[in-house]
Amino acid sequence: MNIKQIKRQSDKPRLYEKGSSVMWTDPYISKQLLELHINPENDSASRSRVIIDRTINWISEQINASGLNILDLGCGPGLYAERLALKGHSVTGVDFSETSVQYAASQAREKKLDILYLNKNYLDLDFESQFDAVILIYLDFCVLLPAERDRVLENVFRALKKGGLFICDVVNERNIERKIIPQSWEVSESGFWKDSPYIALTKGYHYPEAKVLANQHIVIGEQDTVDTYIFWNHYYEKNDLVKILESKGFTDTRDYENVLPETGDPWNGENITFYVSKK
Ligand SMILES: C[S@@+](CC[C@H](N)C(=O)[O-])C[C@H]1O[C@@H](n2cnc3c(N)ncnc32)[C@H](O)[C@@H]1O
Repeated sequence: MNIKQIKRQSDKPRLYEKGSSVMWTDPYISKQLLELHINPENDSASRSRVIIDRTINWISEQINASGLNILDLGCGPGLYAERLALKGHSVTGVDFSETSVQYAASQAREKKLDILYLNKNYLDLDFESQFDAVILIYLDFCVLLPAERDRVLENVFRALKKGGLFICDVVNERNIERKIIPQSWEVSESGFWKDSPYIALTKGYHYPEAKVLANQHIVIGEQDTVDTYIFWNHYYEKNDLVKILESKGFTDTRDYENVLPETGDPWNGENITFYVSKK
């Protein structure tokens, strides 16, 4: 085992350093993620069903009409898309995980729902004035690096009809120090990261100057392979977010603190603010 290399890779990452591997599109990990997504009690990949139902009711109040065209970015296995389709909307779901999109599409066919799923990167969308609402739910906005965030917002703005709504949820600054994940390790014969033996070293970091947390996972495989996964997670104060949205042309940004209940781990109503912004 090349301990020196592991030591180097487990140092605090430079701001916005990329890991060597991408979790969402890895063929093995994306299957583990799908299991988590569709487990109704588990909150780690998608929120629990009770919370999703509550969020859909809140989204319905915001859009306040039926038969709309809605775009669900990072739709995963379609938990929100299906519920919106059942409410009479025509939904397009976009996700770059082939595993999730295939599952979502098979569910939509089985349930005869009006949903189009696209296996695409939402950084590369070219929709124009097509949607009444675009949703980006479960903190995906926070994981975008600044240049990616700009691109996604430009894509969303272009995709919306005039007066259309962009709805997203973000981590706020409250008690952020408590959200830095502690250092930990895992030794497994087979598990979330690999279907063969591995050691995973995990540590969280805070970069207050950029208002971002990083979760770093170093996964060491049997043949001394080392994969690093780094997740950047921004937190936003309202003024910062309004400024970013306005710089892309959005107006009338409203924030909602009470969409999620106050309790629940790791993120709950205390830490998550929902935003609705208009084109
Ligand atoms: C935290 S999950 C949330 C899934 C879904 N919104 C939910 O709450 O059930 C994030 C999803 O976004 C997808 N994703 C992340 N980055 C993406 C990108 N650049 N383009 C398309 N999909 C992306 C992932 O594959 C994953 O399905």
